[in-house]
Amino acid sequence: MKPTDPDTSNSPSAPDVARRVFSQSLPTAEAYAELLATDGIVRGLIGPREVPRLWDRHLLNCAVVTDAVDQGASVCDIGSGAGLPGLVMAIRRPDLMVTLVEPLLRRTTFLEEAVGILALKNVRVRRGRAEDLHGVATFDVVTSRAVAPMDRLSRWSLPLVRSGGSFLAMKGSSAETEVADAAKVIGKEKGQVQGVIELGTGLLETPVRVVRIVKR
Ligand SMILES: C[S@@+](CC[C@H](N)C(=O)[O-])C[C@H]1O[C@@H](n2cnc3c(N)ncnc32)[C@H](O)[C@@H]1O
Repeated sequence: MKPTDPDTSNSPSAPDVARRVFSQSLPTAEAYAELLATDGIVRGLIGPREVPRLWDRHLLNCAVVTDAVDQGASVCDIGSGAGLPGLVMAIRRPDLMVTLVEPLLRRTTFLEEAVGILALKNVRVRRGRAEDLHGVATFDVVTSRAVAPMDRLSRWSLPLVRSGGSFLAMKGSSAETEVADAAKVIGKEKGQVQGVIELGTGLLETPVRVVRIVKR
């Protein structure tokens, strides 16, 4: 995987709002968008139909999740796939230390190469399932997008949150129903639902909906 010549760029150019969201990290975000639009497609990590909506639906949506994360926090992104949201969070917030957890070799290979090309010093890639880290590591914040229904996701993620830390699940319109359905599991895993928060208001056309659960 090589950085692409900007003259032959395949990815849509960053919208104006991207500068406000990423500020000095915008060139790194642009390089990542280019990787997704080229190698990411060739290697089947994202579908070709995602290219026109790379910024709106993927980079910007994922970036604003960092608004709910404290300075210097350790973050574990479960089921990162091509790096969403974890890699984008690390790009926007170099103060965070982000661990990307992903079981599939094809995906962790892409992630490791992307981290090298983008020269990100604050990202670790860990091949495995979230459950493999239970009893091994805890983090200030655990994130995920499009990985599993809330009950299973809570069972995988809450054991990885330190006491007093938070679990942020990007869930869209199904958030409230999923939380209600998972209430028993969340309680059993010592989670306290803080509610559904909206991030990116005033920046994004459609704010991002995130379930926030604090670990007792
Ligand atoms: C639909 S993809 C979503 C990828 C990315 N989060 C996104 O939003 O584009 C779900 C990902 O979760 C990973 N996954 C499934 N079960 C997992 C588990 N138990 N622990 C960690 N990752 C898991 C899959 O390998 C896959 O990459």
